[in-house]
Amino acid sequence: MALKNYSMMFPTRIEFGEGVIDSIGKEVMALNAKSVMIVADKGVIEAGLVKPVIDALKKESINYILFDEIVPNPRDYNVEKGCALAKMAGVDVLVAVGGGSSMDTAKAIGVMLTHGGRINDWCGENLLERDITPVIAIPTTAGTGSEVTPFAVITDTVLSEKLNIVDNRVAPKVALIDPTTILKLPSEIMAACGIDALTHAVEAYTCKIATPHTDAFALYAIELINRNLREAVDNPNIENCTGMMLGSTIAGLAFGFSDTAGVHCMAEALGGRYDIPHGVANAMILPTVTRYNIKADIEKYARVGRIMGVDSSGMSEEKVAYASADIMEKLCNDVGIPKMKGYGNINPDDFEELSVLAEKNVSTPDNPREITSKEFYKLFIKAYNR
Ligand SMILES: [Fe+2]
Repeated sequence: MALKNYSMMFPTRIEFGEGVIDSIGKEVMALNAKSVMIVADKGVIEAGLVKPVIDALKKESINYILFDEIVPNPRDYNVEKGCALAKMAGVDVLVAVGGGSSMDTAKAIGVMLTHGGRINDWCGENLLERDITPVIAIPTTAGTGSEVTPFAVITDTVLSEKLNIVDNRVAPKVALIDPTTILKLPSEIMAACGIDALTHAVEAYTCKIATPHTDAFALYAIELINRNLREAVDNPNIENCTGMMLGSTIAGLAFGFSDTAGVHCMAEALGGRYDIPHGVANAMILPTVTRYNIKADIEKYARVGRIMGVDSSGMSEEKVAYASADIMEKLCNDVGIPKMKGYGNINPDDFEELSVLAEKNVSTPDNPREITSKEFYKLFIKAYNR
């Protein structure tokens, strides 16, 4: 097999299983924390998921402050405010409890605490100059994979676009991944996050910089998500929530050490403009971009199709590959993801501008098939009219 050399390091220690959230006190002590900032959104606090963390910090007599100004698609000013509060409290460890928004906010605060400036200064690939304030990540959704990825995605409010900090130093030190945290997740959040995780896995597997290691993670993640998502949405229990947590974290390892591709390029442009939940934006785009990309790697997309249950007997590889897009679309529909047309204030007049933004995304060069703003525009129109 012709294979380019590659290098890979997984910087995050993973603790996985029921009840691992209870080890937070021990983990914070191991980092010699004097002052902790818990970064969590109000919904997660109301759901009682932050209480075990606070109880553990109190038990160990560790000072803490709570930063709850977390919004979907976190903004630069949210990060800057969190950083100012953390500085005043002398924070030396960040504990993120929540979905991608909380984890990305915590990572970005960690960057600012040790690098200064504005967060936008550090957006880009491998621009960090030193370690960030350590982050312990406790995911409470099954989707983002942010608990193990070396990325933080922040919305630049001046440019109205999403910016990525891409650096191994931004990955959490420890991820406490406890499937009990998603048992009571609202079904629409389970659905959207699950499709985000599926998109991570599909794009990690098919993008230009995929490696055999990331392929192994991606394929198993696709299988786990496809097998568990519908049930986790309709009737969550510990088995399907464990399957989804495994699927999303393993997908995180896949795309965190390869890349995403065209779906995320478009979804981030769309989400940044209209403030659409990230998983919903991905689901609106996934089948359309998959159909566009298949030509570039029929074999890989056919494999995705088989893993997702396409009955391939008597079918050509190409047909199986195209059936993978149909089966992804069916999964999005089955879990109740809304269509693009008629959603919020999405306006096709903006698509030209969004296509230019999508082209500028750092992941565009890794899309399996050559793609420019011209193709992105056509794909936005197709996705809108599907
Ligand atoms: Fe994503």
